[in-house]
Amino acid sequence: MSAGSLELTLSIKCTNKAMQYFWLTLTILLIGLLFHLWKRPRNFPPGPWSVPVIGHFLQLDYRYPIPDFAKLAKRYGNIFRIYLGSTPIILTHGFEAVKEVLVNHGVEFSHRPKHPAFNIICNTKGIVMAPAGQHWKEQRRFSIMVMRNFGMGKKSMEARIQEEIEHLVRAFEVQEDTPFDPRELINRAVGNIICSVLFGHRFNYEDNSFGQLIHPINENFKLAFGMWGEIYNTLPFLRCLPLPFQKIFKNMKVIHAFLKKEIEEHRETWTPDEPRDYIDSYLDEIEKRKNGKSCFNEDSLLYCLTDLLVAATDTTTSALTWILLMMMTYPDIQAKCYREICSLQQNKTDGFCYQDRCKFPFIHAVLHEVLRLKEIVSLVPRSVTQEITIHGYTIPKDTRVMADLSSALQDESQWKYPHEFNPSNFLNVRGEFVKPEAFMSFGAGPRICLGENLARMELFLIFINLLKKFEFIWPECNTPPDLSPTFGTVNSPQSFKMQLRQREA
Ligand code: HEM
Repeated sequence: MSAGSLELTLSIKCTNKAMQYFWLTLTILLIGLLFHLWKRPRNFPPGPWSVPVIGHFLQLDYRYPIPDFAKLAKRYGNIFRIYLGSTPIILTHGFEAVKEVLVNHGVEFSHRPKHPAFNIICNTKGIVMAPAGQHWKEQRRFSIMVMRNFGMGKKSMEARIQEEIEHLVRAFEVQEDTPFDPRELINRAVGNIICSVLFGHRFNYEDNSFGQLIHPINENFKLAFGMWGEIYNTLPFLRCLPLPFQKIFKNMKVIHAFLKKEIEEHRETWTPDEPRDYIDSYLDEIEKRKNGKSCFNEDSLLYCLTDLLVAATDTTTSALTWILLMMMTYPDIQAKCYREICSLQQNKTDGFCYQDRCKFPFIHAVLHEVLRLKEIVSLVPRSVTQEITIHGYTIPKDTRVMADLSSALQDESQWKYPHEFNPSNFLNVRGEFVKPEAFMSFGAGPRICLGENLARMELFLIFINLLKKFEFIWPECNTPPDLSPTFGTVNSPQSFKMQLRQREA
């Protein structure tokens, strides 16, 4: 065979191979499309076209998809669907639709979706991702009761928080005059408050063992609910690859080893019916129920501890760091908050307590306004316990739903100044504090945040005590603060540096 005809044969072979690959890919995509269409239930909410198999992964801006959802709601209505992989997800947009799902049909929408990435962390044996049912109800009720017994909403909790504030203020004093990132210290203070309820003790800020717990928790939170978590959930064939989501498993080993050690130490020193903290109370409950069918065991204890730590730490830390950043961005509002403290301080020789919050309508409004505008949790994941018809659409059992809290928190029909930072959103004409129904930063309905009271107490006490002592100053005169969030389950500010100036006594 001549060199020319050999070349021709090879090129025909290559072209044939390329055509084979082309047809194979096209067939897979077509099968995917058919499967995709076939899976779409009848009378399902409308939504945009998506790429078979991968869904809307490439069409959403994963850095912050909330504006994309607002655009889709304008086009398809306040209840619409998207696909992540081949999983349909219903989004509810705006106060009315979010309330319809979380409150009016709260029971039917009280399941959590099967979320494989997050289930590695929270598992269905805890509270946060447990499906609605006896186990969830009992763990939730028990946790609320124990947190109340250990002071949630009471003076004794206030004493724990005040003690932690003293440590935080001392740590802040050391940083005076030099710009520093406050997130780490706030994270430790907030972590210590929940640890004192769960384990009965706090950790020194220098203690490395606390860092070993808190860093993997924070990292897992971001991984599981970020893009990598969604890839793990919806594209199962990628799960065995060495992609960043593998870190979630490694982190869980570290977290569980830490918590198991705490449980072990409690077991050794535990006196029945004399609980010192959450772990002791849980051990009592295991003992009480050991002869019947019970969902209280050490495995569930491990997951409840993880859930409470995860749910309490990153949320409250982010809320507090947003508050500091907003105070530096709006120094006039910071000054007005300080003046409110000074006007009340004149009549008081000792410090302020949580009960005094009604005397601080402006500060109270500012704190709520930060939670509203900076939407600490944007999307609440739910799923349906039974087939339901809503707004004329049929949503089958177990469909994934995301209630877009951000859209309620900035709904133009509900707020005086929906898109700007303005504490007047929470003040009436007489300057009194009012809370509109669309304030849903802690969710709503049967699965509303169970730490809301604790979080409110922490935000109020930590903020007024820090503000009494320090002025928060934006150190980079030439560039304004970046107020865009790092999006995840919890929206945090971009890392920033803050400068403190101690106020005169
Ligand atoms: C500023 C701080 C906080 C914010 C913005 C926040 C927000 C939320 C939101 C939006 C939910 C979802 C509610 C729903 O599905 O409707 C939630 C659930 C939850 N939160 Fe919080 N939270 C905060 C602090 C805390 C604290 C301090 C604790 C712990 C003591 C906590 C424990 C929980 C738990 C256990 C759940 C799951 C409830 C369930 O599924 O039954 N949170 N939180």
